Amino acid sequence: MCGIFAYLNYLTPKSRLEVLDLLVTGLKRLEYRGYDSTGVAIDSPDSKNIVMVKRTGKVKVLEDAILEHFSGGEYSEPVMTHIGIAHTRWATHGVPCERNSHPHRSDEGNGFVVVHNGIITNYNDVKTFLAKRGYEFESDTDTEVFAKLVHHLWKTHPTYSFRELVEQAILQVEGAFAIAVKSKHFPGECVASRRSSPLLVGIKTKTRLATDHIPILYGKDDKKLTSDQVLPRSDSTSEFMPLEEKEVEYFFASDASAVIEHTNRVIYLEDDDVAAVRDGTLSIHRLKKSLDDPHAREITTLKMEIQQIMKGNYDYFMQKEIFEQPDSVVNTMRGRVRFDGNAIVLGGIKDYIPEIKRCRRLMLIGCGTSYHSAVATRQLLEELTELPVMVELASDFLDRNTPIFRDDVCFFISQSGETADTLMALRYCKQRGALIVGITNTVGSSICRESHCGVHINAGPEIGVASTKAYTSQFISLVMFALVMSEDRLSLQQRRLEILQALSNLADQIREVLKLDSKVQELAKDLYQHKSLLIMGRGYNFATCLEGALKVKELTYMHSEGIMAGELKHGPLALVDGSMPVLMIVLRDPVYVKCMNALQQVTSRKGCPVIICEEGDEETKAFSSRHLEIPRTVDCLQGILTVIPMQLLSYHIAVLRGCDVDCPRNLAKSVTVE
Ligand code: G6P
Repeated sequence: MCGIFAYLNYLTPKSRLEVLDLLVTGLKRLEYRGYDSTGVAIDSPDSKNIVMVKRTGKVKVLEDAILEHFSGGEYSEPVMTHIGIAHTRWATHGVPCERNSHPHRSDEGNGFVVVHNGIITNYNDVKTFLAKRGYEFESDTDTEVFAKLVHHLWKTHPTYSFRELVEQAILQVEGAFAIAVKSKHFPGECVASRRSSPLLVGIKTKTRLATDHIPILYGKDDKKLTSDQVLPRSDSTSEFMPLEEKEVEYFFASDASAVIEHTNRVIYLEDDDVAAVRDGTLSIHRLKKSLDDPHAREITTLKMEIQQIMKGNYDYFMQKEIFEQPDSVVNTMRGRVRFDGNAIVLGGIKDYIPEIKRCRRLMLIGCGTSYHSAVATRQLLEELTELPVMVELASDFLDRNTPIFRDDVCFFISQSGETADTLMALRYCKQRGALIVGITNTVGSSICRESHCGVHINAGPEIGVASTKAYTSQFISLVMFALVMSEDRLSLQQRRLEILQALSNLADQIREVLKLDSKVQELAKDLYQHKSLLIMGRGYNFATCLEGALKVKELTYMHSEGIMAGELKHGPLALVDGSMPVLMIVLRDPVYVKCMNALQQVTSRKGCPVIICEEGDEETKAFSSRHLEIPRTVDCLQGILTVIPMQLLSYHIAVLRGCDVDCPRNLAKSVTVE
């Protein structure tokens, strides 16, 4: 949902061309967050002005424009200190076009330029305020008001520092944002802040830093702008001791994948932190002190490796991520499942297990694919915890003002850990006293930080917009939780052993399923010109139908529906005829007979379904000439093996239809707006 990236080199000579290259590379890493349009801002060769380049489309279009625009030798001269900002957009306010692309500017002279991720909800009020003071707007965006507001404050408060100007502007805006601001009036300085949208600062120095903490500076005022009121200056306490390094480079980014190739030392900013770099010194300031504020922000060492965010020999990130699943599922279980002793320890929640066991009900909340992982594991959770389990779409959950009690345990499942709807639902439940458990793939994300406890799914960075390996790892994380909850239930020991045994074979079985790739590709050739695809199943495989249909929609733009086979006769059967593509999941589990009934209902309407069945199940295979066979596993883990052919199928159909696999139209991986 928009990616922002800024780079500041202090006493570290870099040519503007090098800076542009860094900015474009940063944007490429963040492109999964939005790819409608892009833009950069750097200093002009005489350092007196700011030059911007913006383009509609993906980062590659911007890269080509930069090569064309900045070929002159003056851009190859090294500069000791410089700040460049960059943005890749997922349009919310205003269509994707150059006019609406970031950076947005304060005035024709480019005095202040801003990149923003999020939505400023009161932008109309601020716009009216500024319009009355003569400001004219060039774009349809909410962001532009921020640049112009900073400019207005600068004009009316000439003694304010850059940080104070941005702080005062932040006090006037509502909504969600991560912003980075550059100004020609404050050369070599950068100010960045966040509220509800993610932002981190990467720090690269030649020598190790003297401290791993950046002390926090506090302001005292929290006043709102009213009509013509002169804004008060925010006072600061004196407990500030800046991080001082001579040669230093700072990277401001929406996520760690954009900085890992430069540094593994980052600070995750918290809501309402204002980070400012001046004379090479980073300070972090809070607008007002609250009781639970820490004294410092810690520098975290990232564990991510650069190879994890590269495509390697694969054509697309999604393809790579599908094929990584034999390893990613093992990484999810690593250090947690002890197959020899049949024991499971989830370090992030173990202290809370007694409390969870006493709860009234479990609620699993998420969006998109993450929601499907909850659907996939609900039945097992009900069986092994013997608790009521509610599965909720975060957006719908919030719309309903769902009653939540102190003895509820609420799980928030999110690959990115930043999805706005999920985060809002988390805060809603937390306010009502529920225990909050985060299930995320992104260490340091908002959901991680705001949960009481949680499980990192450890699937490794997922870059393809359509989620694949995160789904299977979320699935396994919830299965592990169910196993932990049933540890001391004597009557469930046999069932637990059966599941643990199946988990130990899972990686090999996923490898087997991945061997179906060429067969699935052939199937894709039969299907890719159709308009629709129905995917049917029930029981443990209903979630695969929903997830498979979501993958097909996201990637191929074909209509696809996941249908609960039990509901077939209540409506969807009317869609079935000899030409409607149908895929059915029919496995030898407790709902096999019911699935066979559905299969016969389809074939007797001239339907010719593709069947996903168990290896060697001749009886089921006899019902269709087209089938994909998967290895046999325990019923509750089948969903992991059945979803992989669906991931491969949607991938191959997308390639055949000429769709952009990693960046499907209109979508973004991290949806940080409600
Ligand atoms: C977006 C993505 C989906 C993802 C959903 C939830 O819609 O396109 O692939 O499943 O967000 O994201 P989360 O990061 O919370 O799992």
